[in-house]
Amino acid sequence: MSRHPVVDVRGLKVHFPIYGGVISKKVGTVKAVDGVSFSIGKREIVGLVGESGCGKTTVGRAMINILHHVAPDVEIGGRILYHFEDEVVDFATLSPRETRKYRSRVQMIFQDPYASLNPRMTVSQIVEEPLKLHTDMSEPDRRNYVIDLLGKVGLQAVHAERFPHEFSGGQRQRVGIARALATNPDLIICDEPVSALDVSIQAQVINLMMDLQKEFDVSFLFIAHDLSVVEHISDSIAVMYLGNLMEFGPSNQVYHHPQHPYSKALLSAVPIPDPNQKNRERIVLEGDVPTPIDKPSGCSFRTRCPIVEAICSEDVPELETHDPDHWVACPIVKKTNEVKSNEIQ
Ligand SMILES: Nc1ncnc2c1ncn2[C@@H]1O[C@H](COP(=O)(O)OP(=O)(O)O)[C@@H](O)[C@H]1O
Ligand SMILES: [Mg+2]
Repeated sequence: MSRHPVVDVRGLKVHFPIYGGVISKKVGTVKAVDGVSFSIGKREIVGLVGESGCGKTTVGRAMINILHHVAPDVEIGGRILYHFEDEVVDFATLSPRETRKYRSRVQMIFQDPYASLNPRMTVSQIVEEPLKLHTDMSEPDRRNYVIDLLGKVGLQAVHAERFPHEFSGGQRQRVGIARALATNPDLIICDEPVSALDVSIQAQVINLMMDLQKEFDVSFLFIAHDLSVVEHISDSIAVMYLGNLMEFGPSNQVYHHPQHPYSKALLSAVPIPDPNQKNRERIVLEGDVPTPIDKPSGCSFRTRCPIVEAICSEDVPELETHDPDHWVACPIVKKTNEVKSNEIQ
């Protein structure tokens, strides 16, 4: 999709087996991610959005290959191809041990800055740790660089010897950002990095991340359930529903001209500051999200879709180009577009 991708995710599947009964027989599968494809370009920020439980965190964890730590018997399919400077590596085929070698290239910032920082380490130890593990910098150089990094995320040298509990949520997330940046990675996966913060702090942290993205020349996968956050920060947006991508394209296209009925519904719930657009129709979806253990056949959104037709239960729709770089997985949108283009000809 992108000409110079940092990572190309192809048909990613993450299935968690469920066991039951006295002999712990496999009784089902949670299809948390069920055939997801997208790419992230160099220096690009891709926003990944969708309701809670649709598989966003699982995509992020698969992309740094830490799922085996969470669920040892997880089944992972597809490809996660990283294009590093000197080699192409498929993370989906690496053992957790082999992945360690590339840990400095791909970093993750977690949703909860309270839980993700080691409470027994000082801020300088936390930020220094990846430098110790992944670089051959001398101790004085590491120390100086840590102070430098703290300055870049808006903290001061006096903060270096304090512990995480002495900080506010926003400051802790700044520490997490400094640690993620320490090894100058190619990609940082940010899993809802501001949703645990006060609204007044969210914008500060997002603006900081946007500035640092430019300064460090890094790509971001920015996971959020709030579309308005993603629109502001992202170059491209991927919309996810029940383990599948429904739409992927340039941010302003997806935000202002969504094609998929699910993206339209998700967007219609976002408050609009522009008074000229106040009349935008609000689409309320009927019913609940089905469980990923027992997904509908065909399109996973069809049980709640306002434009569903019989063909939607047949095959899982593939992402297909709507415009160059704008991809939509919906047989009805595809059919409507074909009719339109025939009329023009
Ligand atoms: N370790 C696990 N074992 C079994 N099911 C899991 C595990 N992790 C996540 N899931 C399930 O996978 C689905 C997607 O979860 P998640 O990726 O956390 O979604 P999101 O981040 O979009 O809220 C959910 O149904 C969740 O219950
Ligand atoms: Mg999540």
